[in-house]
Amino acid sequence: MTKKVAVVTGGSGVLGNEFCKALAYNGYKVAIIGRDKEKSADLIKEIEANNEIAIAVSADVTDRKSLEDAAEFIEKTLGSCDLLLNGAGGNHPKGTSSEEYYSEDIANKPDATSFFDLEADGIDFVFRLNFMGTLLPCQVFGKQMLNKAEATIINISSMSALCPLTKIPAYSAAKAAINNFTQWLAVHFAKTNIRVNAIAPGFFLTQQNHKLLKTDEGKWTSRAEKIITHTPMARFGEAHELVGTLLWLADSKASGFVNGVVIPVDGGFAAYSGV
Ligand SMILES: NC(=O)c1ccc[n+]([C@@H]2O[C@H](COP(=O)([O-])OP(=O)(O)OC[C@H]3O[C@@H](n4cnc5c(N)ncnc54)[C@H](O)[C@@H]3O)[C@@H](O)[C@H]2O)c1
Repeated sequence: MTKKVAVVTGGSGVLGNEFCKALAYNGYKVAIIGRDKEKSADLIKEIEANNEIAIAVSADVTDRKSLEDAAEFIEKTLGSCDLLLNGAGGNHPKGTSSEEYYSEDIANKPDATSFFDLEADGIDFVFRLNFMGTLLPCQVFGKQMLNKAEATIINISSMSALCPLTKIPAYSAAKAAINNFTQWLAVHFAKTNIRVNAIAPGFFLTQQNHKLLKTDEGKWTSRAEKIITHTPMARFGEAHELVGTLLWLADSKASGFVNGVVIPVDGGFAAYSGV
């Protein structure tokens, strides 16, 4: 079987690791994009130990020139991109309020960050990373996909996009923008052979949310307990539980008429009103 080429941004992350392995073991040569390619060294060793192909390429998803350089290198090394998975994303403390609800009381809490304290550069960072960091790779790698018989873009959204989570207004709005953009691009590319869909993971414990979910003593925070209570399956997800949806969206035989959708993989979180 001729292998296709998958480009995974944020591939060195917790979910990204799982995505890269799944693609490498299911017919793809994988190019892992991250700011520091050394972070993917162990992942590449693991994939190579299983006789599959992966390379790491340093690029910043918010910087078009670095993506263009990466795209050129990947095309020369592995071939042109068949599948783009936009996995790079995250939040920033400067875009995060400490309180769920505003009250006058906040003035008496010296360590509190209210909505009014949120800093423009923190909010801007979160928008650039999540939204521009999805749009720019679509521009750069989308060009390589145009002449293919079939190609796929898979964006990574969040529960926060459907109904915003408390404390993280910038992340929520940026992920909502990704949902909107997924629909827009699916329509825009509909006369090409590129399908565009997204996965909205529920809650998975990773480095980006660790501080919000685990105490220094390794116990669940009250926010983590709230999430578990609001998840009908009463637990966090395991990264490998995203793989089936990824491979289904990637496979045009299985999902060839699926375009412009955002699939929740969330243990029922989005379906539950809380009552
Ligand atoms: N963990 C969860 O519960 C959860 C839930 C919903 C959505 N998500 C989303 O899933 C995706 C993966 O998150 P994760 O939980 O694995 O987080 P993670 O922090 O482990 O991984 C994020 C990856 O993105 C990379 N990255 C960050 N900025 C970058 C940049 N400018 N250029 C290139 N790479 C950059 C990081 O180096 C890291 O490899 C993110 O988009 C995140 O928002 C995660």
